[in-house]
Amino acid sequence: MLPVSDAAIDEAAGLIRAGQPVAVPTETVYGLAADATNADAVARIYAAKGRPSFNPLIVHVPDLSAAEQLAELPPRARALAEQYWPGPLTLVLPRRDDAPLASIVTAGLPTVAIRVPRHPAMQALLRASGRPLAAPSANASGSISPTRAGHVMKSLGGRIPLILDAGPTQVGVESTIVGVDGDQLRLLRLGPIDLGLPMAAGDKVQAPGMLARHYAPSKPLRLEATEARPGEYLIGFGPVQGDASLSPSGDLVEAAARLFDLLHQADAADTDAMAVAPIPPEGLGLAIRDRLRRAAHRGN
Ligand code: TXA
Ligand code: MG
Repeated sequence: MLPVSDAAIDEAAGLIRAGQPVAVPTETVYGLAADATNADAVARIYAAKGRPSFNPLIVHVPDLSAAEQLAELPPRARALAEQYWPGPLTLVLPRRDDAPLASIVTAGLPTVAIRVPRHPAMQALLRASGRPLAAPSANASGSISPTRAGHVMKSLGGRIPLILDAGPTQVGVESTIVGVDGDQLRLLRLGPIDLGLPMAAGDKVQAPGMLARHYAPSKPLRLEATEARPGEYLIGFGPVQGDASLSPSGDLVEAAARLFDLLHQADAADTDAMAVAPIPPEGLGLAIRDRLRRAAHRGN
């Protein structure tokens, strides 16, 4: 735990560029930030939080022009951005095809959640690291969001290399999330900014709930496969070698980082079916298994 200073920001930026997650205050809650262009770095967020599934994460950028490199901003979204950024507003926008984001950040969705935070420590880290930062709240999955460095310490201490301490956060609840679809705006999460938008029914669970269907491969997917059957593309792990491997050494961080890319690859391969090797049900393996179960689920 380090009080925020120029030296502390430099150290944090070095860790970010080296692919490590760092806890950093925003005006809403403390976030666990990692380089959004680096799949391994983002997988380490999930590993540290023990998050049971791959929800898409919010990508933090220093200003509107940085946001424009990652996403399309239709006029109504741009107007909101100009009014509320920097601040506790997140916009879910169509992701640009050339955005250099790791696919694990958006969990394979064609959209990306973007926010320009106003906290000076987060602003300083964004500028010093020069990277867009994926950051969920800096707490173990299922526990209460952290508004002080001490909360982060209690929840994640020992699992992350650095916690920047700038005292209690000002806002304390997570940002308002607005989904943007052309000129249509929908409230996806209530938060500090009240835009007078109705909370559209069912939209709250849109991202995590629809992930499975969105991400489901077009071919049958068999789990717990120890060898390929005829006509199957096998994604290996550890000792199970396949057409490609999530991690030949059995490293779950590496496997999580590669998961979405290899599912895409298997789906595009010239085979009728695909299969995935057993993944151990522990740590990050739980999140990987959760995603695989959803991807393998056929029918509605
Ligand atoms: O205030 C905040 O927003 C904090 C600070 C650290 O910035 N961050 C935060 O992140 O609350 P997180 O990961 O806990 O919340 C992200 C939410 C999730 O509910 C997720 O489903 C939604 O944003 N989300 C992210 N990307 C999305 C997308 N492409 N489409 C729909 N929802 C998305
Ligand atoms: Mg959270």
